[in-house]
Amino acid sequence: MTDNNSPIGIFDSGFGGLTVLKAINDLNPNESTVYIGDSKRYPYGPRKADEIIKFAVEISRSLIEDYNVKMIVVACNTASAVALEELKSLFEIPIVGVIVPGVKATMSVTKLKSVGVIGTVTTISSGAYQVEFDLKDSDIDLHALACPGFVEFVERGDTSSDQVHVLAERLLAPFKNSPIDALLLGCTHYPFLARTISDVIGRDVVLVSSADETAFEVDRLLKEENMASLSLEEGQRIYLSSGDPDEFAKIGRRLLGEAINKVGVWQP
Ligand code: DGL
Repeated sequence: MTDNNSPIGIFDSGFGGLTVLKAINDLNPNESTVYIGDSKRYPYGPRKADEIIKFAVEISRSLIEDYNVKMIVVACNTASAVALEELKSLFEIPIVGVIVPGVKATMSVTKLKSVGVIGTVTTISSGAYQVEFDLKDSDIDLHALACPGFVEFVERGDTSSDQVHVLAERLLAPFKNSPIDALLLGCTHYPFLARTISDVIGRDVVLVSSADETAFEVDRLLKEENMASLSLEEGQRIYLSSGDPDEFAKIGRRLLGEAINKVGVWQP
């Protein structure tokens, strides 16, 4: 049985979800969190939907059965795009994805109603963003673009080399003459590349991450469902990786800029 002091489970294919985790920890520091980075099986982006659903179910089941989480945040756009409905139908605890919060955040900054979204091949081809933007405002002019290769750079801890810059120039070229005023980073790995992306598409385009809005959604649910932690102390932080835990700690610290003291092994 879960109670108010049970942790929140958060997962991604690797480091990307740390951007969401950080926003959740900053907004609700007294909530305990369990983070699983499925580094061994990244990238999810080029995989088939069935396989991603299988991974997402496996991880969610482990978070529930092994760590007794009270809520799950799917801190991965690819898994949110293809697996969220399945997870919601299988498990009784609240499951939060990153797509709806990302769209909400973008709608609040665009003035031109012409926006871009970038993500993995599976996320973009799923059409999940098109559907969600249409639901919010059918007049929105959406430019969706897959950016294969970005995730691999982040997983290697490389966010600013000449190589990643060259890749960004090539992938983002279609945005150079488009009229967008906001670009939604529709992959939780991409905020780590924000400087490079902004250099390429220009400072006048606002980059939007789903992290903060997802943390607000988690906060809203905690209050609405009466599930917020009752502890006055800082929550416990558990980090797990299906890959090499030492490597996860090293690169995770570099990306997040804060202490990831210990990383445990998570096995599918
Ligand atoms: N962070 C995941 C996302 O938001 C990356 C997916 C991948 O591993 O390709 O889509």
